[in-house]
Amino acid sequence: MALRPPVLNPPFNITRASHVVLTVADLAASRLFYEEVLGLVVTLQTDDALYLRGVEEACHHSLVLRQSKDAPCCARIGLRVRTEDDLRIARDYFAGHGCAAEWAEVPYQGLTLHVTDPFGNRMEYCAHMPVEPRQITRFHHHRGGSALRIDHYQLLTPNLRGALDFYMDLGFLLTEYVGPDDEQIRAVFLQRKGNPHDLVFFNGDGPRLHHFAYMVPETQHLLRACDIAGELGFGRQVERGPGRHGPGHALFVYFRDPDGHRVELFNTHYQVLDLELEPVRWDPADPAVSFPWGYPARGRWFEQATPFEDTPVRETAVRPTPMTLEKYLAEEA
Ligand SMILES: [Fe+2]
Repeated sequence: MALRPPVLNPPFNITRASHVVLTVADLAASRLFYEEVLGLVVTLQTDDALYLRGVEEACHHSLVLRQSKDAPCCARIGLRVRTEDDLRIARDYFAGHGCAAEWAEVPYQGLTLHVTDPFGNRMEYCAHMPVEPRQITRFHHHRGGSALRIDHYQLLTPNLRGALDFYMDLGFLLTEYVGPDDEQIRAVFLQRKGNPHDLVFFNGDGPRLHHFAYMVPETQHLLRACDIAGELGFGRQVERGPGRHGPGHALFVYFRDPDGHRVELFNTHYQVLDLELEPVRWDPADPAVSFPWGYPARGRWFEQATPFEDTPVRETAVRPTPMTLEKYLAEEA
């Protein structure tokens, strides 16, 4: 059953999840992790920032790491729009909906709009970046998991229904959701680019960034990234998996980077383009939602996440009670 009809002609054209901006304590440690374990390509390193992209990506960056002495946080998450005219329409739209929306000077991006959405998520919209050579066929340069391209982010929010309505008004299509019925929704999977999700919201204390995710070419790259993580001293930072998701059906593995930011490598998503497709509801009582096989995630995977810069975290009124690895093993014993 569709929760509400999609908005087929949104006020402006968002095309995809684009990039993440994180703060880190040590650029050298972060570079080792993202370049050697995930296999990202370094586009540019400055005195205080590192710009990375996937081996398939031609645009300047999909991950920006800014050195900081403060506690690690997420400065912005980026969405692309089709044209700069879309940005101008977006600014008026967000201002009209009571959101902070300001033009920003951001290196290696065209016209950029900073927006804080009604739920406190710090977003960054742009339409252009400088173009770099794709590395996809330079096989002898591929490292680690050969991360191809950024795909999605997952955010935690105490106002899940509000976030669903707000982003569906911007043209996002709901592909899958988790809830015992349509009134008690715990997670929503929203997309613009034609696969299961660009933007995912889970009920939880927020706003916080739970993870961001890169696609890999083959399943073997998930294992190769784990092997290299183990070799380079990041073995304990393989947090969950490899495993199979229920929603989205992806094969996945999650890492914590040197600052605790969570990043996912995955593949085997599917195409979602046709409008007659109804959103798929998952019952949270069904164990296949979080682990079709193997073991569930440990409790910290559900609880820990990256806060946004200068943004207070609000507690959720609905406390999730997922099956954790700790509970699962206790019940099995
Ligand atoms: Fe994900």
